[in-house]
Amino acid sequence: MSAPALFNESAARVMQQCDELGRITDEPGRLTRTFHSPAMQLANGLVGTWMRAAGLEVWDDAAFNLFGRWPSARGRARTLLLGSHLDTVRDAGKYDGPLGVLVALAALEHVKSQGLPLPFHVEVVGFSDEEGVRYQTTYLGSRALAGRLKKTDLALIQEKGIEKARRKASEFLAYAEVHIEQGPVLEARDLALGVVTAIASQARIRLAFSGVAGHAGTTPMALRRDALCGAAEFIVAVEKAPAGQTVATVGMMQVSPGASNVIPGRVELSLDVRDQSEARRGRLCAKLLKIAERLAAQRNLTLEWKIVQETPAVPCDKRLTQLMRQAVGRHEREVIALPSGAGHDGAEIAHLCPMTMLFVRCQGGISHNPAESVQTSDVAKSIAALADFIILLAAREQGAV
Ligand code: GLV
Ligand code: MN
Ligand code: MN
Repeated sequence: MSAPALFNESAARVMQQCDELGRITDEPGRLTRTFHSPAMQLANGLVGTWMRAAGLEVWDDAAFNLFGRWPSARGRARTLLLGSHLDTVRDAGKYDGPLGVLVALAALEHVKSQGLPLPFHVEVVGFSDEEGVRYQTTYLGSRALAGRLKKTDLALIQEKGIEKARRKASEFLAYAEVHIEQGPVLEARDLALGVVTAIASQARIRLAFSGVAGHAGTTPMALRRDALCGAAEFIVAVEKAPAGQTVATVGMMQVSPGASNVIPGRVELSLDVRDQSEARRGRLCAKLLKIAERLAAQRNLTLEWKIVQETPAVPCDKRLTQLMRQAVGRHEREVIALPSGAGHDGAEIAHLCPMTMLFVRCQGGISHNPAESVQTSDVAKSIAALADFIILLAAREQGAV
């Protein structure tokens, strides 16, 4: 099934907007936009102009989340929140995050153009920090909105007052997010869209091995306390330890002092561990800590281990997801449901209101890579399905009063 023709034009515009946003970067030659960076401020500004052109009221909140609001004429209405994030990983693709913000805007424009009065306000949001690249702690924007920042987050970051972005749960009716799948399932099933069942549990840990820096030419091998050799053994153990669906990754490493003729005295590493089951994820983290302790003891190194973030697995709301299934069913021959191994702002917003997510096929399942690619015809279907979701939710709410 293809999307109705009028959605193709919107999809072509969304693709152009993703291209334009993809040129707004903190690092020349590759796409990188991190929390509250100059490029993030420019990206919010540009998306803000598109929101204004669509007739929305636009503002940035205290956590640098961008909002565009279409108010309902109904008094005391709650708000349907639609969107995704505008920050990126380092050397990112163009669609992880921005696609969901721009599809939300395009879907809202379709609903607006039909002149249907909605029984809820609609806000399109561009969250400021889904990736957690700047401080290695994710979801700063969505956690600020949901009032879920911890003292440890506030101590970690330079920006002051982001907790003022907090809003009350009673303001919100629902949250829906469109996102690229970042995996290969939809492509394998020859489907453009799929509904999400749950967002995986994840932990982010910072650890460091410390030994003694020394002269690379004069220190005999047997007398060294080389922190990098301990880290190297640990990284290989991280690759081997997960079983089943659990995944674990060391994505960053800093070697100090970092000279070819100096034995590494200290190595700092990041560790990212995920599973749909929080218990399994927790067990693997505990096992990896034991391995790190054993390696440090064997090599006479000291170990620091700091959990920067732990998020539980978060299920999508069943009633809302049923509406999303109905909407997708109008545009797909089959509606499939799949879990998300990636983290999403919805995991935090689920604490504020019911949450649902829609995945869009991406080529080869490739993501967190400049080769990320989506088809315009799939984007058209996602806009059509989200517009239908808004209309179905309005009908449900009108029936409910
Ligand atoms: C964000 O993409 C994450 O899952 O880390
Ligand atoms: Mn994302
Ligand atoms: Mn991402």
